[in-house]
Amino acid sequence: MIVLNRLQLSISRQWFDSYSHTFAGEGMIFVPLLQVKYEHSFRVEKLAYRIAGELEWSEPDIRCSQAIGLLHDVGRFPQYTEFGTFYDPSSVDHGDLGQEVLIKDFPWEYFDEPLPLKILSSVKYHNKRIIPEGMDEEILPYLKLVRDADKLDVFEVVREHVSTDRVKDLLPGISLEEKVSEGLVREIEQRGSASYSNVSTLLDFLMVQTTWILDLNYHPSFRILEANGTLEWLREQLSSDAASGAVFEMVQERIHGNTFS
Ligand SMILES: [Fe+2]
Repeated sequence: MIVLNRLQLSISRQWFDSYSHTFAGEGMIFVPLLQVKYEHSFRVEKLAYRIAGELEWSEPDIRCSQAIGLLHDVGRFPQYTEFGTFYDPSSVDHGDLGQEVLIKDFPWEYFDEPLPLKILSSVKYHNKRIIPEGMDEEILPYLKLVRDADKLDVFEVVREHVSTDRVKDLLPGISLEEKVSEGLVREIEQRGSASYSNVSTLLDFLMVQTTWILDLNYHPSFRILEANGTLEWLREQLSSDAASGAVFEMVQERIHGNTFS
């Protein structure tokens, strides 16, 4: 049984706040993209709280999921500072780096086993394309939860940047040409997911995001997605692409199975 008490959650918050700010500039101000990640981290903590609460987890378990939500992207700060990008393939795997950072710098003296293992594994694997086979059953619920919370917030971050014409700030390399790259839909239909190596336009990116819905784990996550109107928004953005219909059908089926079963 994993327990995380209130003091440990508050220590996690304090540590995250001070560690992330070691990457801030003058006046403790972050560059815009790190500010986005900083705010994302706290929102993922809140989403973890909401999902775990709706799942009726115990209070210590909810707090554990909050701490993981808050810490999941800690690797983003050194990644961006060293490489100037959030693109893992051309820099470093930010889940792996997050785990390294935590091993080295987190105040573990306040946390007894098995908490460190749960936190470290969830951070390391939050961004992997699929959850590796044989993952410890005790870690799985937390890992699945942070993966859901993370995706739910990134949907909103991207949507907000698109709606305010700032998507180039968020995804600097992306082309705004209104087309979906050849091969992407085929890859999705065959594998149910797509790799970022096939992404060059914003519509490609939104198509990949649409497939994230296939990977959501918990019913409350699907409910939040519905409440946010995420799928409708994605469908509207991709409406010019005839081939996207097949992807939306797959996704719709998955949503249906999770909101009405
Ligand atoms: Fe991440």
